Amino acid sequence: MAKTFDVAVIGAGPGGYVAAIRCGQLGLNTVCIDDWKNEKGKPSLGGTCLNVGCIPSKALLESSENYERVRHKFSEHGVTVQGVTMDVSAMQARKNRIVESFTGGIAMLFKKNKVAFLHGTGRFISAGNTYQIGVSDNGKSESIDARHVIVATGSFPRQLPGAPLDQNLIVDNVGALSFTEVPKRLGVVGAGVIGLEMGSVWRRLGAEVTLLEALPGFLLVADEQIAKEAQKIFTKEQGLDIRTGAKITSVKTGKNQVTVEYQDNQGARQKLECDKLIVAIGRIPNTAGLGAEAVGLKLDSNGFIEVDAHCRTNLPNVFAVGDAVRGPMLAHKASEEGVAVAEIIAGQAGHVNLDTVPWVIYTSPEIAWVGKTEQELKKSGIAYRSGQFPFLANGRARSLGETSGFVKILADSRTDRIIGVHIIGPYASEMIAEAVVAMEFAASSEDIARIVHAHPSLSEVFHEAALGVDKRSLHI
Ligand code: FAD
Ligand code: NAI
Repeated sequence: MAKTFDVAVIGAGPGGYVAAIRCGQLGLNTVCIDDWKNEKGKPSLGGTCLNVGCIPSKALLESSENYERVRHKFSEHGVTVQGVTMDVSAMQARKNRIVESFTGGIAMLFKKNKVAFLHGTGRFISAGNTYQIGVSDNGKSESIDARHVIVATGSFPRQLPGAPLDQNLIVDNVGALSFTEVPKRLGVVGAGVIGLEMGSVWRRLGAEVTLLEALPGFLLVADEQIAKEAQKIFTKEQGLDIRTGAKITSVKTGKNQVTVEYQDNQGARQKLECDKLIVAIGRIPNTAGLGAEAVGLKLDSNGFIEVDAHCRTNLPNVFAVGDAVRGPMLAHKASEEGVAVAEIIAGQAGHVNLDTVPWVIYTSPEIAWVGKTEQELKKSGIAYRSGQFPFLANGRARSLGETSGFVKILADSRTDRIIGVHIIGPYASEMIAEAVVAMEFAASSEDIARIVHAHPSLSEVFHEAALGVDKRSLHI
């Protein structure tokens, strides 16, 4: 007879594995089903984030930044280094070690929290008092029953029509994270988050990088002023060639190179030849093959599982979280939804506030934001005041030698409540946390202005931006 669990979690990415751990902590008898295999063909927990996303990309970003620092930034500190070389295989081996230690760590966390793990592809078979879930792995199959199901099947890269991936010349994030040598000419389709992060890695290591972006503007999801500053830094100072308004008409592969033909924003025909092409044009929810139709689980027209504000699907006791549902495709959003759902199943009041999910792009300088952009506020007619302060005027940024960028705080004109914070600058990924806390606690810009910030620290830029909302920044 099939074993019955309180909860079956399908998918062990940051949405699923965190949900499973929280269920275990709450005393729910939980199984997590996941089908990810690493290059060695072994099960590897952690989904996209740990295997081919957040963690390996940040490892490579750090390695490539160190290379750039040694070559271009150490000399102003009086540190002279000669004969600097880049060993790409050592960099990749370090990245792989980090990934392996984290994915292995999840298996240990499952044990600690008494979460059972089944390797294989999970799918709904039938619904009754419980849900019957089939698990198939390499021709073998079994089934389990579950009183509750959490679907956390994540997403996969959208493909460019006419440019099938071969993970050698035309690659997605998986290939882009595993190049064994630095391509001389790197093309990237899509100047979004992956394109910018991966483009930055390989540019720092010596590639000539060209990004082809379909939209007429650059980084339209970000605050306009931040995007403008970022574009200036990435193109003029760092040499990324970003071509917006590019409509790809054909992609052809030769023996060792890729030729991309496109129409530029004037409608003229253009050609880009490169040694590798990264396709990073967004991601698609991983919901085909889940057996949604067998139980009547409702998907929207783009394949996302339909959920309410509490991640409830149309089926009783079935929840869905992470990239497979609406909202930003971010690991921390997936994990928080996982925790909230586990708590709801245990009879508690789980909740995720999608209005305060921070975004970070790990370029150099980093870009981070939370809440509304200026263009969104203008569009919705909300009156706001803005305070801004540059890193150039901050002692800690000067000592770090990282002076590009600024912090901008947007506050409601009527109530002074902070409604958006936008940062481009050093460690923006860390600084944005203060903004998230401020917004969660409904802080006003005056609240931040009256809080003591350590000196010298980057957080003083945030403080000065808050003072700036009331036109009383001190150091500018
Ligand atoms: P996933 O991580 O995609 O995990 C889903 C898991 O379910 C996978 O293991 C999959 O194999 C498994 N699965 C799917 N279907 C089934 C099935 N039927 N049965 C069993 N198992 C199944 N986000 C950030 O917040 N910060 C970052 O810095 C960041 N960097 C990124 C860099 C890259 C290159 C990429 C590609 C993404 C990055 N992301 C980042 C996004 C982040 O990885 C995702 O938002 C996050 O992984 C989504 O988590 P998830 O649990 O919903 O799904
Ligand atoms: P994205 O949505 O960030 O960017 C895709 C870009 O490709 C967009 O600018 C889009 O206009 C463009 N595009 C779409 N079709 C195109 C076409 N045919 N030709 C040229 N350009 C085209 O998606 P991306 O970079 O693939 O990343 C997927 C998601 O993964 C991100 O949206 C984010 O949610 C997550 N991610 C998060 C990271 C982080 O938090 N630091 C890092 C990397 C990924």
